[in-house]
Amino acid sequence: MNESIRQQFPALQRIHNGKPFIFLDGPAGTQVPQIVIDAISDYYKTSNANTHGQFVTTQETDIIMETTRNNIAAFIGAEGGHTISFGQNMTSLNFSLSRAIGKVLQPGDEILITQLDHESNRGPWLALREKGIVVREVRLLGTGILDYEDFAQKINERTRLVAMGYASNILGTINDVQLIRKLTYQVGAWLLLDAVHYAPHLPLDVQALGCDFLLCSAYKFYGPHVGILYSKPGLLDRLPADRLRTTYQHAPYSIETGTLNHAAIAGVDAAIKFIASVGKGENLSQQLKNAMQQIGQHERRLVQKLYDNLLKIKGIRIFGPPMDVTVRAPTLAITVEGKRPDEVCRFLAQRNICAWDGHFYAIRSTEVLGLLEQGGVTRLGISIYTTEQEIKDTLEAFSELD
Ligand SMILES: Cc1ncc(COP(=O)(O)O)c(C=O)c1O
Repeated sequence: MNESIRQQFPALQRIHNGKPFIFLDGPAGTQVPQIVIDAISDYYKTSNANTHGQFVTTQETDIIMETTRNNIAAFIGAEGGHTISFGQNMTSLNFSLSRAIGKVLQPGDEILITQLDHESNRGPWLALREKGIVVREVRLLGTGILDYEDFAQKINERTRLVAMGYASNILGTINDVQLIRKLTYQVGAWLLLDAVHYAPHLPLDVQALGCDFLLCSAYKFYGPHVGILYSKPGLLDRLPADRLRTTYQHAPYSIETGTLNHAAIAGVDAAIKFIASVGKGENLSQQLKNAMQQIGQHERRLVQKLYDNLLKIKGIRIFGPPMDVTVRAPTLAITVEGKRPDEVCRFLAQRNICAWDGHFYAIRSTEVLGLLEQGGVTRLGISIYTTEQEIKDTLEAFSELD
């Protein structure tokens, strides 16, 4: 990635104590480029209105909403804008979806979740236990990889839904979705993927994946805080989502409640355009795919460097799959012997390095790996704007930590 990309992010120009920040906190939300900031403020300057009216600004709002749905569809390889619903964030959309799915399941029906997932893809499904639905949990191995034998044993003809992450926001593990898809097809269950941590890093193609639902969140891929739900055509129409009689009763609108954040959605469209601007191709889909391949390669190169050199520092342990796996998200969970993760992050913060400590809501994984008591891990996340120099500076900081 080149300097012209970094120039587009005002936050990267900020100087604090004489130095710019190094943002390794991308997995908790990335910085946003100027085009996103402009789209949000331009919306308020020019087109601020509610939807479906007779005058210019409302019609412009309708266009922004539908264009953004279509462009997100291109970003994730979906059939079209009619498959894309918006919400406040991923968690609230998933809760709405789980309530709707809960109404069409019977007591004794089963849902499969995993120990690797973020709580937002566990809690909404665990809540359905109240209705007599059986929720089973696929085990996480000490390697940070799901136990696929356990998965194959737990999925059965009563399984109605498999809800799992595509990439882990703590360990960087990318799950074997092809295998999961095969097993879910065999029993006729729905497959729901939490792609919140995958979407910022690698190309997505929901049709090739064959998933029924997929969720992501724009603030992880250079946009504002907006949750996104993909539902396979026809599926959402069959689900009784909580809704008012005054809203549209069909997809993609039936799961959306109240007035959406139009300005932020204008910002999501700008984030998609920003990503597309990095790639080459004859149309938006090709540009997005190429851009995500380039972003993936850039991040992979830097995370490899960070991984290899961190391992050389005494007392540092890295959790999750090793770098020799073919695909891995550029996110490292580490511990430093004799230091709590919050101490490590405070030390990094003094050097303007922004990194998170804790469990990042992937609390079950930290419990299973025995890391919760000690305050979780320190998480280092690579983004489009991370540079080789920043990796060097981060490694230098770690080498000074004693
Ligand atoms: C993997 C993963 N899933 C889901 C979420 C929840 O997303 P949101 O904040 O949009 O509810 C996050 C947020 O950190 C995440 O990393």
